[in-house]
Amino acid sequence: MLASCQVICWVGILFLFSLVLSTWCECCTYSAVSPLPWQSELNSFLWTIKRDPPSYFFGTIHVPYTRVWDFIPENSKKAFQQSHIVYFELDLTDPYTISALTSCQLLPQGENLQDVLPRDIYRRLKRHLEYVKLMMPSWMTPDQRGKGLYADYLFNAIAGNWERKRPVWVMLMVNSLTEVDIKSRGVPVLDLYLAQEAERLRKQTGAVEKVEEQCHPLNGLNFSQVIFALNQTLLQQESLRAGSFQIPYTTEDLIKHYNCGDLSSIIFNHDTSQVPNFINATLPAHERITAQEIDSYFRQELIYKRNERMGRRVKELLEEYPDKSFFFAFGAGMWLR
Ligand SMILES: *[C@@H]1O[C@H](CO)[C@@H](O)[C@H](O)[C@H]1NC(C)=O
Ligand SMILES: *[C@@H]1O[C@H](CO)[C@@H](O)[C@H](O)[C@H]1NC(C)=O
Ligand SMILES: *[C@@H]1O[C@H](CO)[C@@H](O)[C@H](O)[C@H]1NC(C)=O
Repeated sequence: MLASCQVICWVGILFLFSLVLSTWCECCTYSAVSPLPWQSELNSFLWTIKRDPPSYFFGTIHVPYTRVWDFIPENSKKAFQQSHIVYFELDLTDPYTISALTSCQLLPQGENLQDVLPRDIYRRLKRHLEYVKLMMPSWMTPDQRGKGLYADYLFNAIAGNWERKRPVWVMLMVNSLTEVDIKSRGVPVLDLYLAQEAERLRKQTGAVEKVEEQCHPLNGLNFSQVIFALNQTLLQQESLRAGSFQIPYTTEDLIKHYNCGDLSSIIFNHDTSQVPNFINATLPAHERITAQEIDSYFRQELIYKRNERMGRRVKELLEEYPDKSFFFAFGAGMWLR
């Protein structure tokens, strides 16, 4: 349990925050369904940049907003409402962002996964996706069906074009095709919800990152590393199917920790990079080395380099518009170094 947690904010000047979370968090684990009465006074994922007018950093999370909204303190919501300009990592409401992400994930023209992957991996991938497609109707909730969300539609929306995707993106896709994750589809994730709210409230919005900056580092993993990652992901899913495996960090854990204001770095760094962790004590030595290489590659590319880049842009914005109040909504994991 974190007694006090020093969070170093990377925005040029170093801010040092001390958060005392331990007692609160212990209580919170017993009360995961309704917000605590004193929660409105807690400053969980909001940091203020003291200037006039003030600006804010807010740590978001990539889960359905309905699961966390009631736990977000009033002061954070008020800061959002009072800010003139809201910045996100990516502009998720811009159709260009979505189409650029989609095309960045595709294999070069004329290539298919079947040509690229080792035969065994391709066969297991195909079999796993057939299983997911078969199971999907039973994974969906009555609520989802009530909203007109159909299993076929959802499967196609997530996995429709899988044979044309780069292996690293197929790996991430397979990771997000579990029962728990499917059940949470159809409600906007918190960052998207804030973007929609910002639009509705006619705030000026922007993004500090370009799609390519998020996408290219993932495409930069080399072939043997990607095959290793995909193989491990399939092994996990296969043992999940066989009922012999529990995924170590689920969305449920993530939600619980977020609602408790628990900035546990393992879990949130995991969410931030959106990349699974393959380091596993039971792996043979040479495979453990590959897992560690992948982990440090992602840390370098998706956490450290990205923080520096985003920090630079934040600083430029604050300097360029000294009379505006900014609300920067970035993944909560970004705040822990
Ligand atoms: C991939 O990168 C790792 C670590 O940098 C290296 O050991 C390996 O030889 C590379 N494999 C290929 C196919 O380039
Ligand atoms: C997948 O991983 C398993 C267990 O680590 C290994 O025995 C197998 O050779 C790997 N398959 C491929 C195609 O890399
Ligand atoms: C660790 O790796 C082994 C062999 O690849 C696999 O059977 C097991 O499910 C993995 N455990 C975790 C927690 O990933």
